[in-house]
Amino acid sequence: MTQSLAELLDLYNAAAPLEDAYTIPAPWYLDRRIEQAEREEVFGANWIAVGRIDQVAVDGQFFTVEIAGEPLVVVRGSDGELRAFFNVCRHHAAAVVNAPFGTLQQLRCPYHGWTYGLDGSLKGVPEFAGVRNFDREANGLIPVRVETWEHFVFVTFNPSAAALIAFLGDLPGRIATLDLSNLHFFARKTYTLACNWKVYVDNYLDGGYHVPHLHKGLNSVLDYKEYTIENSEHYSLQSSPMVSSEEHESFAATRTGDRAYYYWLYPNFMINIYEGVMDTNLVLPLATDRCLVQFDFFFKDVSNGARPANTKSVAVSDRIQDEDVDICESVQRGLRSRAYRMGRLSMRREGGEHLFHRLLAADLRRAGNSSC
Ligand code: FES
Ligand SMILES: [Fe+2]
Repeated sequence: MTQSLAELLDLYNAAAPLEDAYTIPAPWYLDRRIEQAEREEVFGANWIAVGRIDQVAVDGQFFTVEIAGEPLVVVRGSDGELRAFFNVCRHHAAAVVNAPFGTLQQLRCPYHGWTYGLDGSLKGVPEFAGVRNFDREANGLIPVRVETWEHFVFVTFNPSAAALIAFLGDLPGRIATLDLSNLHFFARKTYTLACNWKVYVDNYLDGGYHVPHLHKGLNSVLDYKEYTIENSEHYSLQSSPMVSSEEHESFAATRTGDRAYYYWLYPNFMINIYEGVMDTNLVLPLATDRCLVQFDFFFKDVSNGARPANTKSVAVSDRIQDEDVDICESVQRGLRSRAYRMGRLSMRREGGEHLFHRLLAADLRRAGNSSC
């Protein structure tokens, strides 16, 4: 018998403390109704990172992005104002902007040529004379709330969400001490994985548990025993002292400093900081068993002279990512097996994952209530 959404949600006990807790159950990584509920109650309700401020620094600069099935365009207006819109034409729903990024004076739909100002207002409507009860003013692009913090642009589809700063809690204060303004964008890499987006987040949040087994190179520069995990309301910080080791030269050369900081912000954004180096990971669901992970790399020195060293650092990250991709896809296959239902969590390591599952369950509970 097929379980209802409410029954699926009841499989997880969010009230269990870490020592008694199970992971969220396998069907949550497989079921289309959970995916749909996440679109509404997770990606539709929270602040979601979508890009960087340097992508929209100048008037007319824009980027496009798709968040859980919603096409968006983020654009800096000629008045200097940053705005976000659904990238959906009010005529017959085509994407108005198709390029991933660039600079424009106006937004022109490629289908029938409707044009919109950078403020979203409908400007040009070819061959529409005689159409009755058509209010041009009411047919601008639909705006989306947008706010920024540090290098990052966030949107929310939730009109009643509290301001971004409230969602971030004490995160800005903590990260301020690391002075991210000294770091500059260098390169982006994207990966498509054959796994649910939550498998990738779980893997990130296991408190270093997999590092000695899966990432021998990375493990050589981390003091694994001293790894710490701290949970806050909407984020988790995993952090480790660094050690010097010549065991893996490329890691020793590119991962230096006293400490590594791995911040995860619910639901799908990670900020990884070493001395003079940062990368962010944005995890975007594509289907129940597919996700896109977007890495943006930042360095203190992005001059031409620093290019070889920066490229080497990106290549090191690429190796770690390859190891993570393989294991995440293996987990997704295992989640489909009749042999697996849900798993237990390490008290020492997997508190971040526990926070993720509880936040997710709290959001999905709203979908369960409305479906009953
Ligand atoms: S769909 Fe955009 S102009 Fe027709
Ligand atoms: Fe990993």
